[in-house]
Amino acid sequence: MESRHPLDPFIAAADRALRAVFAPAHASRPIPGGPLPAANATAPPEVASAPGGTAASSGAADARTYTQPSQGAVANAAVALSDAERRESAALMRVNHAGEVAAQALYHGQALVSRSAATRNMLLKAAREEADHLAWCETRLKELGSRPSLLNPLWYLGSFAIGALAAATGDRTSLGFVVETERQVEGHLDEHLARLPSGDTRSRAILNVMRTDEIGHGAAAKTAGASELPAPVRVLMRHAARVMTTAAYWI
Ligand SMILES: [Fe+2]
Ligand SMILES: [Fe+2]
Repeated sequence: MESRHPLDPFIAAADRALRAVFAPAHASRPIPGGPLPAANATAPPEVASAPGGTAASSGAADARTYTQPSQGAVANAAVALSDAERRESAALMRVNHAGEVAAQALYHGQALVSRSAATRNMLLKAAREEADHLAWCETRLKELGSRPSLLNPLWYLGSFAIGALAAATGDRTSLGFVVETERQVEGHLDEHLARLPSGDTRSRAILNVMRTDEIGHGAAAKTAGASELPAPVRVLMRHAARVMTTAAYWI
């Protein structure tokens, strides 16, 4: 949409920021693995259902297909998690939820100061997919009887500022920032997929689709002309991510 006033981009960014932090996340795609069957939807938190269905994404941002499991498959795959397993799953999903808050904020900040409309549109499209991830993680946290990180407004503000700063140096660097961010997120998701309790196939289905999307975001930024970030910046990003993931695990 065409801007009619110089303040329009700032108003739109503030609107996105407020909704990202305070409004319940809304997914434009169904949750991987499908909704919990009615019998399990009211189950106590320590009993988590695992759909065991497959959720596949093509990796191409525009053509995604999902295979929803049948109700029978969902019921057969239901696995009870122990209390310790449920707590571990919840802590990991809280970290992932916080990561999605930060990812949206980075892309919103970058979109606000991007030079070209093509880069801005790419960033906002990626941010919308991060909103899907956010909603899925939020749903899974509720199913596990847990809550998002209390520090989410802080993650959003810090990440928005970092994103805007990165984008101020130019679109190619900004796209390089996306490539590095997604590379690190992919590493994170791999670590979480290995750490999730084996019975929590429902969280695993969500993380697998997220992982495919993140790889798609990084590849799109690379194709759009991303430049490689200097090594010290990549190390700094790794440290910043470590602070967030460690804090969000507990708080
Ligand atoms: Fe994401
Ligand atoms: Fe992403």
